Amino acid sequence: MLNMELDVTQILLATAGLLLTYFLIGWLKDPIRKIPGPPGLPILGNVLHLDTENLHHQFFGFARQYGAVMKIRIFTVPVVIINSKEACLEALTKTGTDFQGRPPLKRLLEIVPKDIVFQNVTEEQVMMRRIFYKAMKAYGPGIGHLENIMQETLRDMVDSIDQKGNQAIDTVNLSVGYVCCVIAAMLFGEKHSYDSEVCRRMNQVNEELVAATDPFTSGGALDAVPFLFQFKFLFRESHKMLNSATKTVNDFINMTLQEVKACHDPNQKRGCVDYFLEVQRQELSEDGATLISDDHLKGLLLDFITAGLETSRRSLSQIFLDLLHDPALQKKLQAEVDSQFEPAHTITLKDREKLPQVESYLLEHFRYLTQIPLMVPHMTIRDTKVAGYKVPANTVVIMNSFYTAHDPDVYDEPFKVKAERFLDENGQLVDRDHPYRENFLGFGAGRRACPGEVLAKSRIFLFLVNILQKYTVELAGELPDRDVRKYPMSILLAPPSVKVRFVRRQ
Ligand code: HEM
Repeated sequence: MLNMELDVTQILLATAGLLLTYFLIGWLKDPIRKIPGPPGLPILGNVLHLDTENLHHQFFGFARQYGAVMKIRIFTVPVVIINSKEACLEALTKTGTDFQGRPPLKRLLEIVPKDIVFQNVTEEQVMMRRIFYKAMKAYGPGIGHLENIMQETLRDMVDSIDQKGNQAIDTVNLSVGYVCCVIAAMLFGEKHSYDSEVCRRMNQVNEELVAATDPFTSGGALDAVPFLFQFKFLFRESHKMLNSATKTVNDFINMTLQEVKACHDPNQKRGCVDYFLEVQRQELSEDGATLISDDHLKGLLLDFITAGLETSRRSLSQIFLDLLHDPALQKKLQAEVDSQFEPAHTITLKDREKLPQVESYLLEHFRYLTQIPLMVPHMTIRDTKVAGYKVPANTVVIMNSFYTAHDPDVYDEPFKVKAERFLDENGQLVDRDHPYRENFLGFGAGRRACPGEVLAKSRIFLFLVNILQKYTVELAGELPDRDVRKYPMSILLAPPSVKVRFVRRQ
């Protein structure tokens, strides 16, 4: 009897010893162990310590504490955070496709199975990026076409502001209206008014999609642990939002594709949707099958709408806050515009070089806001290295562009908007390789860099100079705080909206 008890105890002890050795070897072999980071709890990791409302600000503090590369753990899953500009650029531009994957976001993939932003780096994703670039025509000779669309939309916007006279206008509504009109004109090749059905539905698609897939709500657990999708009763609200967004998105896309297909003429490309349909007809595999499915078209359309709308509208909201918080800035920029152009002159993209103060302010605006502060999460697709640390395949990697853009070792008073920061002693923009410009990674870098950068910057430049040339922006209500560290964050930062009056300038 005693012998048997001894045997059982010995077996238990031996098993425990083996398990311990197994975990110890695993721990010793785990390269992530060597990457510094805040201590976490067993099983939970760092989840309880994350400030999900202001993650960007918390990660700024982490970067100061832990240096160029660090890690946290979400439960037992490691997440590597790259804080220094050098290490970000190494990962994004010097390691081939090693860091160019994306972690699968289950809820988003449910609605949009094929898109550019959230798809892993594959031949398919590369093909979609190529089509996207071509469709936008934002480069080379195509920029003229794009500019015409923007100028026409701006003329309509000015008419609509004038009609409102002295009424207070919500800057978010104005910004969304302007951006939606540009997107609609680019997609369909024809003008749509601010209050048109197309613009309204595009905005609804965007809002529902963003809300239903917000990673920082309880539904984020569904992305992290897709198995939970089976327990619908636990995430009733998330499932409701997901179903509603799926319906809104599908209805809009089906209606759009049906309408455009019905009057599609291969010899006449009115907008990007016509171009997409033409590519669908022409891009065939070796056995003659089409390479572009309707799911691809849906992804391309949605990328156009959400990636373009969410970002630009937030930029414009922040610009209004800047003008209101700093009336001297508004006067200075107006003075520069007035010194170069007659009031009736239509300012074009070619005029940018005559407006270095406006350009410097815009660079500072993008730096200060860094509206996608941690970029879109990346994932390693094979075992690799960054800054000397080994990072295994399938590790989620976050690029802390908020830190690089506010690094106090590079920027003096990084949390102040200093409109002249990007000017040299001769009043001209500092060169592209100046540390101020190199440290700003707000549009990403390398193979997954933002394909909409030129479009976004052009659209925002023309919007700003039109407003400055024609109006003085005055506050109509309360002035909200302007501190990027306190802005709530989902994937994007959300500057508060403000009500303004546009006073016509003589
Ligand atoms: C102020 C405006 C904008 C900012 C700050 C911005 C910033 C970014 C950033 C940081 C990324 C992720 C880079 C990465 O994860 O490595 C990104 C990706 C992307 N952006 Fe933008 N963006 C803006 C406007 C636009 C516009 C106007 C469009 C299109 C119409 C657009 C389309 C995309 C797409 C399709 C991707 C995914 C690229 C990929 O994963 O391969 N963006 N953008």
